[in-house]
Amino acid sequence: MVLLAVESSCDETGVAVVIDGLLRANVVVSQIDQHREYGGVVPELATREHLKNLLPVARQALADAGVTVRDLTHVAATRGPGLPAALQAGFTLAQSLAYALGLPLIPIHHHEAHLYSPWIQDVPARLRIDRIQPNVSLIVSGGHTLLVDVAGFQRHRVCGSTLDDAAGECFDKVAKLLGLSYPGGPQLDALAERGNPKAHAFPRPLLKDASDDFSFSGLKTSVRYFLDRDTRWMSDESLRRDICASVRAAVVETLVGKAVRLTRRLGYSCITASGGVTCNRGLREELATACSRRNWGLQLASPAYCTDNAAMIALLAAAKWEAGRGEFASDWSLAPHSGWELS
Ligand code: KG4
Ligand code: ZN
Repeated sequence: MVLLAVESSCDETGVAVVIDGLLRANVVVSQIDQHREYGGVVPELATREHLKNLLPVARQALADAGVTVRDLTHVAATRGPGLPAALQAGFTLAQSLAYALGLPLIPIHHHEAHLYSPWIQDVPARLRIDRIQPNVSLIVSGGHTLLVDVAGFQRHRVCGSTLDDAAGECFDKVAKLLGLSYPGGPQLDALAERGNPKAHAFPRPLLKDASDDFSFSGLKTSVRYFLDRDTRWMSDESLRRDICASVRAAVVETLVGKAVRLTRRLGYSCITASGGVTCNRGLREELATACSRRNWGLQLASPAYCTDNAAMIALLAAAKWEAGRGEFASDWSLAPHSGWELS
């Protein structure tokens, strides 16, 4: 099997190649620099950049893997969720390739790819579905915050999601209030490293609520009021660090608290985490502490597979094909699905 996969759901253009279950190429071009001056992702600009980058990225991935399009046996692409026109750009490339070469097209759910990304392990990388044990999976990115019950490979059920802002969105919006450039999550994380997490008691939204859902917009609003009330932070780096550390502690405590509670309720002893926010040092440390205290397993996606990439799309597509699961397009009627829910 020589499978090429395309990812273009947001602001990263990615193409990866998997040969017989092993990742042989993973090329990602990020558009962060183009979107920074607007303070967020501009959908039209994202689409234009994808259209510009897709073919060079695909050519590079094929070269890295040492194959040509004629060697391909399968094509996969992110079908959704994501920005509609951005998805369309990558999906159309994959569909055209599959059509021209007479190959099956494997549509992949972006969050399902994040969900299994902690099991991308070994060198060369592969998806170790043989190692999957029942776990609670936390998918935390700029667009989504999900808690999922994973009984095994392809046996998952979404238990909770955010009612408003995603965790990454909350980090980015608070960072913007503090004058940090987009995406502010990583910068807020870096400042938090040298701040006091107990300096300010920001809310832990829905932490005590019985549901597995999250809500982060109230936390952002409470930080906004706090920053407006006393503006000394503008000229005091140490105050800024304390605010970042306190916001990070509020988000992380909420995420970890809810993940631990669901894991206990399901009788599992393993937590996994994926998505861009899994790069957050505070989250990685708190999850490690929570799991080691209970003697639970913890699988965190490697930083390279946390933010958007095509490797997770390619490896999941190959594993699903092998397992005979999922829908495969042979009639070319399949379209991207920007609001596709993970079920
Ligand atoms: O998964 P991803 O690349 O894209 C989406 O599908 O949204 O995640 C991007 C998000 C952004 O909100 C970014 O600020 C956040 O992940 N992020 C972080 C860190 N690194 C990335 N947030 C907090 N701390 C970090 N170290
Ligand atoms: Zn993502």
